[in-house]
Amino acid sequence: MSAFMQVRDELRVNPRTWLITGVAGFIGSNLLEELLQLDQTVVGMDNFATGHPHNLEKVRALVSETQWQRFTFHELDIRNVEHCRIATDGVDYVLHQAALGSVPRSINDPLTTNDTNSTGFLNMLVAARDAKVKRFVYAASSSTYGDHPGLPKREELIGRPLSPYAVTKYVNELYADVFARTYGIESIGLRYFNVFGPRQDPKGAYAAVIPRWIEELYRGTSCRINGDGETSRDFCFINNTVQMNLLAATTSNPEAVNQVYNVAFGVRTTLNQLFREIRERLARHHEHVAGVQPEYVEFRAGDVRHSLADISKATALLGYAPTHDLQQGLDVTTQWFIEELSVTN
Ligand SMILES: NC(=O)c1ccc[n+]([C@@H]2O[C@H](COP(=O)([O-])OP(=O)(O)OC[C@H]3O[C@@H](n4cnc5c(N)ncnc54)[C@H](O)[C@@H]3O)[C@@H](O)[C@H]2O)c1
Repeated sequence: MSAFMQVRDELRVNPRTWLITGVAGFIGSNLLEELLQLDQTVVGMDNFATGHPHNLEKVRALVSETQWQRFTFHELDIRNVEHCRIATDGVDYVLHQAALGSVPRSINDPLTTNDTNSTGFLNMLVAARDAKVKRFVYAASSSTYGDHPGLPKREELIGRPLSPYAVTKYVNELYADVFARTYGIESIGLRYFNVFGPRQDPKGAYAAVIPRWIEELYRGTSCRINGDGETSRDFCFINNTVQMNLLAATTSNPEAVNQVYNVAFGVRTTLNQLFREIRERLARHHEHVAGVQPEYVEFRAGDVRHSLADISKATALLGYAPTHDLQQGLDVTTQWFIEELSVTN
């Protein structure tokens, strides 16, 4: 049996209390869905900066009424330490997802990104320390590899950050490390590589590429590729990310704690390849999409050229075994968006 299966079985028998910050966002709401389906008690915190109440409603529709009753939501802000204290009270595990994502957003507005991602993170760490939580698992980022040219990316080799966003995510790791050594708080940082899946926001200037392209192809508007399309990423389906959060929160391996891990599938895909994969799936439903070509625009500031993770540390120390590759993840994701878009049209 996989480590993840064991953890799920154990949690069903011994349910715990979890706090998910950023619960109304993409990754947070997927964590909520998984934990409620495992009959856990969940506290959620979000200020709806980029998340949406409809993500919570969608989770509600996927769980039983009894499971939903185990969820308490607080509309609170991590930039306020008192709000963080309210949310962490009585919690076993924290899954800290709340942050302002997006490299371009941080270049346009470094102050708000810093308030949320650095100060908000520190507030959460202080609150988690004082509430004596068992473990603090947090969303770190592959952007921390910055200008280091090595591929695949190994956790111990990082370069200089290329954006204000990357600085904040690196600061998170530094604070978590210092809090472990100074106050004994147990933490694990998860360096997510381009996560995708259902409920990822396709809208707005800072939307991620996969949901954006799916929606644009569906609506027949043009898809833009920044640069020549040979920029590559290690796209990680959401179920793999959820798995890593649960493994990190519950591991009893002392060597696995107070570490950072890559969270990815371990395969690199160019934007040109990605576009073809998405177009092919959409074309199964809307034939005319088959002939659509992307529009190439300038490279984006702050973007790394190639990204590929070495996932052997997570495999060895946490028993991580990703269940979905890009193709399997895209099958689920495009189907989900097509159903959503057909209802909202
Ligand atoms: N999606 C990815 O590919 C990816 C990659 C690397 C890292 N991450 C990190 O993962 C985490 C989750 O990302 P996501 O893709 O789900 O983004 P998201 O925008 O969907 O979710 C973030 C959530 O945090 C909430 N939030 C923001 N500021 C807040 C505040 N001050 N107080 C309370 N809540 C606040 C938002 O309203 C939103 O619901 C973030 O920390 C992000 O930096 C994501």
